[in-house]
Amino acid sequence: MRTLLTDSPEEAAALLNQGKLVAFPTETVYGLGAGIDFPEAVEGIFRAKGRPSDNPLIVHVADVRQVETAAARITPDARRLMERFFPGPLTLVLEKSPMVPPAVTAGLDTVGIRCPDHPVARAFLSLCRCPVAAPSANRSGRPSATGWEAVQEDLDGRIDCILKGEASRIGLESTIVDCTGEAPVMLRAGAVGLEELQLVAPSTTAALRAPAGEAPKSPGQKYPHYAPRARVVAMEQGTVSGHEEPAAYIGTGTPPQGMALARLCPDLETYARELFGFFRECDRRGISTICCQLPPAAGIGRALRDRILRAAGGH
Ligand code: TXA
Ligand code: MG
Repeated sequence: MRTLLTDSPEEAAALLNQGKLVAFPTETVYGLGAGIDFPEAVEGIFRAKGRPSDNPLIVHVADVRQVETAAARITPDARRLMERFFPGPLTLVLEKSPMVPPAVTAGLDTVGIRCPDHPVARAFLSLCRCPVAAPSANRSGRPSATGWEAVQEDLDGRIDCILKGEASRIGLESTIVDCTGEAPVMLRAGAVGLEELQLVAPSTTAALRAPAGEAPKSPGQKYPHYAPRARVVAMEQGTVSGHEEPAAYIGTGTPPQGMALARLCPDLETYARELFGFFRECDRRGISTICCQLPPAAGIGRALRDRILRAAGGH
């Protein structure tokens, strides 16, 4: 299959409305979209990514009104969170309505819903005739794509179209909050921090990892995400030992001695925006070890720590 590159939301939406697979920019990471009314296209997402079929997709909507059609029940806390954070980098897990097919939710009776805050994404979604199911636009297990070039690197020839936009402003995937129970539960950390959620819904708690022996609430929690080919080492301090050369460093502190490549970020927002692109750059340059400074677990720091520790897989 030939993958069309375009910067026209009209052209991209016309393809999606014919049941094609279209990658599109959002402020978090690029998404790989299919209309939820096209079950074969939805299945095609899993094939193109090499994604396990038990991992549900997030449904993307152009406006808050569409949430009402995709969700069967919206709790008062969910409504408050939507009012405060939609459009934005937040996904709410809600009871699904019958219009969302099981292929999208991997058979679950809940659905993750997100309304992106990105001008190109909103233009595209508003031209799509149904809500758009979309995971991150990377091959399964690879770092999420934060620019259209990364989408092309992973998916060229496997999808119909890439809607080009600028690099994603945030660079980490959305915060996921399960609003189907009595109190909201944060399942994935993102740019909307736990502290901010609690200002709107004070009973919100976090469960980023399933307790040992329990099935994860979010199927994605059990997969080792975000891994470059190089070995990732998480560092609390400015020193690193026993690493394989050539090594690279990314963080906000002074890089350790002897790094072949170093990215010193002025703040945590820049660190978040650049992390996945840096992972890909290191792979292209044949780096063996990537040393990542671990930021404090607050605000976007919690999301960064989570992605780094997953990529490090315990190192
Ligand atoms: O920022 C984002 O959320 C990006 C952009 C494209 O919107 N999307 C994204 O999708 O990161 P994906 O598929 O890479 O990650 C979605 C995560 C998975 O871990 C999945 O298990 C979880 O959301 N998820 C989806 N639906 C769910 C549900 N009904 N209940 C619990 N977890 C769900
Ligand atoms: Mg993903």
